[in-house]
Amino acid sequence: MLFRRLFDKLIRIMNTENQKKLAAEKATESVQSGMIVGLGTGSTVYYALLKLGAMVSEGLDIIGIPTSEGTEKIALEEKIPLTTLATHPTIDLTIDGADEVDAHLNLIKGGGAALVREKIIANASKEILIVVDESKVSRVLGTNFPLPVEIVRFGWEATQTAVNRICGKSTLRQNTSQDEDASPLITDNGNYILDCHFEGIRAPEAVEMQINNIPGVVENGIFVNRADQVIIGTSSGIQYME
Ligand code: A5P
Repeated sequence: MLFRRLFDKLIRIMNTENQKKLAAEKATESVQSGMIVGLGTGSTVYYALLKLGAMVSEGLDIIGIPTSEGTEKIALEEKIPLTTLATHPTIDLTIDGADEVDAHLNLIKGGGAALVREKIIANASKEILIVVDESKVSRVLGTNFPLPVEIVRFGWEATQTAVNRICGKSTLRQNTSQDEDASPLITDNGNYILDCHFEGIRAPEAVEMQINNIPGVVENGIFVNRADQVIIGTSSGIQYME
């Protein structure tokens, strides 16, 4: 019985990984030589980074701008040339992941704690492709995944109280890496993350603005009207939302 359950779990994980790879590699087909490419963060985009690395080694001429220190490290390992927004303020195409996607292409992002840089990169991008596996598709945002909100450390308890007035309940994200003692997670920007447990976000645009209006909030993970296309890897192939 236990063996059966473990086996089923392994099959589920393998299916999800296949779906992520399918979607991510499909997105790389839109990358052309000469482009400045926004490089998203997460386990799905990871497959796109590997593919772009292989394409670069075969002559693809691109320059990437990473959305996190983690992505920067992978991109350097894959020998993808990198630049900054200071040098290249306009990005031709960004490939990024998401934690939840609705039918209007609204997103929740930030499960990997990179939401601030991801939103800055999104804002500078002419085109944004979002790559997900089928588990990320949701009827109403905030029903399957808590909303990440990046906050400054000073006075964070007061900021949390104000955020809770909007979402009801939030938790301070902890560092989960095994080699470190339990402590609050610190983002690449030196801040904390609150994970906000909504029972569905029915007006994402309004909630995005309301939360960002609270002093101490740096940014939140609601992305409205940003994605041009969502590429979904499913067990029966690729689906698109646009
Ligand atoms: C990073 O902060 C996030 O926005 C990721 O893009 C998102 O969490 C998707 O990550 P996975 O592809 O690992 O699920």
